[in-house]
Formats: sequence, C-alpha cells, structure tokens
Amino acid sequence: MAHTPNHPVENDIRNTYQWLEDRLPIISFLNNSVGSNFMAPRNLSYMWNFGSLAGIALVLQILTGIFLAMHYKPDVHMAFDSIQHIMRDVNWGWLIRNLHMVGASFFFIVVYIHMARGLYYGSYKSPREVLWGLGVVIFLLMMATGFLGYVLPWGQMSYWGATVITNLLSVIPFVGPDIVVWLWGGYAVGDPTLNRFFVLHFVLPFVIIAVVVLHIWALHMHGSNNPKGISLTKQTDYIPFHPYYTIKDIFGLGVYLIPFTFMVFYAPEYLGHTDNNIPANPLVTPAHIVPEWYFLPFYAILRAIPIKELGVLAMFGSILILFVLPWLDKHPVRSARFRPLYRPLYMLFLANFILLGWCGMMPAEGIYVRIAQAATAIYFGFFALLPVLSKYEKAKPVPTSI
Ligand code: HEM
Repeated sequence: MAHTPNHPVENDIRNTYQWLEDRLPIISFLNNSVGSNFMAPRNLSYMWNFGSLAGIALVLQILTGIFLAMHYKPDVHMAFDSIQHIMRDVNWGWLIRNLHMVGASFFFIVVYIHMARGLYYGSYKSPREVLWGLGVVIFLLMMATGFLGYVLPWGQMSYWGATVITNLLSVIPFVGPDIVVWLWGGYAVGDPTLNRFFVLHFVLPFVIIAVVVLHIWALHMHGSNNPKGISLTKQTDYIPFHPYYTIKDIFGLGVYLIPFTFMVFYAPEYLGHTDNNIPANPLVTPAHIVPEWYFLPFYAILRAIPIKELGVLAMFGSILILFVLPWLDKHPVRSARFRPLYRPLYMLFLANFILLGWCGMMPAEGIYVRIAQAATAIYFGFFALLPVLSKYEKAKPVPTSI
C-alpha cells in the first residue's frame, strides 16, 4: 500500500481498516448497529436509555461475579465463611461484593423501568411482539439467576428462601415431590443443592447474554418505537444513533452511577435482609421468610391465594401472561399518550404493582392478605380489560409524524 506524502497516518489507518474489513467486517457491523449508520427516531426520551443501561448492568454483574467466584466456596461448611473472607481479607473484595449485590438490585430497577416504558408506549405491539417475548424470557432468566445467587452466601434467608421456593414445585401433580428431591439432590436443601445452584448461577448470565443478542437483533428489524408510538415513514424523523444517542446513553450512565455508587459505598445492605448475615441453620426458621425485594409483588400473589396449588399457578401465571400481552391488547394505537382509558388503567396497574410489593413484605396474615387479594384481582383485571379496551376505546387524534 502506497503512502501519500501529505497524510501518511490517515492513510495507514484507512488501509488497516480496509484490511480488517476484508477479513472480518466487525467495524462496519458495529457502525450499522450502534453507530452513525444506524438511524433512530429523533424524539426518543430518556425512557429509551434503560435498554443500554440494562446491558451495562448485566456486564458489570458478570465481571464482578467472575472475581467473586475466584474466592467463593460452594460448600455448606465453607460458603458463609468464604463470603466473610471476601469481605475482610481479599483485596477490594468488599467492593467487588458490594458492586455485585447492589448491582443485582439496580439491574432489576433498570429492567423494571425498561418494561414499564414498553408497557406505556405499546412497544410490545406489532411488529415488536418477538422483541417483547424475548424480553420476557430475559426477565424469567434474570429472576432465576437472582434467586440462585441469593442462596450462595448460605445465610438464614438463603437457606429458608431456597427451601420455600423449591418446595413450590411439589404442587405439580404426581411428579412434583420427586422433582423437588431431584432438584435438591437429596431430601432437603443441602450441599448438592448449593453446588448446583452455584454452577447454574454462573452459567445463566451467559444464557441471558445470548438472549439479549437475539433481543437486539429483533429490535433492529423494525427499529425503536418512540414516545408517540407511530410508525415513522419520513427520513427527517430519524437521526444517526452515533453521536446523538451514544452521548445521551453515556450521560444517562453518569446519572445512574450517582445513586448506584452511593448505595455501594454507603448503604450496600439497605436493599437486603439483615437475617442473611446469620449463617444458615436448618433447625431455626426465621420469623418471616422474605425474598429479595424484586420478587415481592409475585410473592404477594403467591400468598394471597390460600390454596397452595392455585397460588403457585397465579404466581407463575402473573409473569407468563406477559408473553400473550401483544395479543390481549390489539388496540391499533400504541402510545398511552393517545389512549384516554388505557393511560389511567396503566397508572393504576403500576401503583397496584407497588402495593403488591408492599404486601409481599408484610406478614401473610389478616388485613395484609385481604389487600394482597384485592391487588391480585386488579393485577389480572388489567390484563382481562385489555381486549375490551382494544375493541371499544376511542383514541385521541394521533399525529402522522414526529
Ligand atoms: C438484560 C436485560 C435487557 C437488556 C440488556 C435489554 C436491552 C435493550 C436495548 C438496548 C433496547 C433498545 C434501547 C431501548 O429501547 O431502551 C431494548 C429495547 C426493548 N426492550 Fe429490552 N432489554 C432487556 C430486557 C427487557 C425486558 C425484560 C423486556 C420486556 C419484558 C424488554 C423489552 C424491550 C422492548 C419492547 C424494547 C423496544 C422498545 C422500543 O423501541 O420502544 N427488554 N432492550
């Protein structure tokens, strides 16, 4: 390759780029998917920051998790102490663990906002049903990973949480109890359980990464939805992803890091349960067994129904129903902005979801169960009303362009 005397360095860069392009066109691939060749609607609000934030949160979990795994011992006699060792002896171990612990909570906060955004702007509707469905798969995998991870420190809540949740599978007709024994690798939660939970907790995030790749692939088929929820036709409705949204995402990350690092350094245990600082003891049951905060709304649904089988069904149903959401809500208008009935219903749904979370935190007795029952009815009522709204709701005039 010849050098032009005026710009030798520029030429070298161009030649190297071309050399790589001919062999592995990764730079043009990135440019087409998250660079200046990728066009995005020009009216995306900060609500569209949460997808990339979720990606960063996921990577942080994997990186910190790998370093934790170098010092953690998946053995019932050593697990609790190995965590103490990480916190006290390993160089920067306390920081790595706090990042991982608080990171898990913040990952869920980000993803809950990401989902609520999709629900508000109708991002799950045609042609993005598969994109949404893959999101629900990611959510299920995240819940599984979160649950498995919480067992690893082998504190009281780890042990009893694992016992309660795995026992739920015993309601499966005929084979349920056998499945639970198979899952435990014994007749109670014990050493084989901890070992396999560790392996699965390590592997699942990589499965999540794979599903995220499919998620982004599906996103690129039709591009992002937007706050107006309209399908865009004009070239002027778009701007290049880079630099406009890359800079916006970086700014969003900076804002996110403020509360995140605050929690990591000043209140790492705030979102957890103090009982998990007590080593697991199969002979002492805690007064209240509570899961991590991000499971609380679903835990409340489980406990709202006095018949165990129905409770388990309702709990799993409350998540699985998200898969069919695009077919329950067939209203032609996507964004809640233009839907006078869906919008207040959505607000009620969100408030009710938070109420469910509060119920999940309270003891399962008296008035709390009554409130949880009402909230469970509202939760499912929301989904039941969607087909009715699809048919009868009259939307406000929808603009044709942004
Ligand atoms: C690890 C978790 C996840 C990651 C890394 C992720 C990543 C992303 C990214 C980067 C985008 C594009 C930017 C944006 O719209 O914010 C996106 C869009 C989207 N995601 Fe996710 N996502 C995750 C989980 C979920 C979940 C749990 C759901 C729903 C159940 C979901 C549903 C959607 C939808 C519907 C869109 C399109 C939104 C629109 O264009 O309006 N995602 N996701």
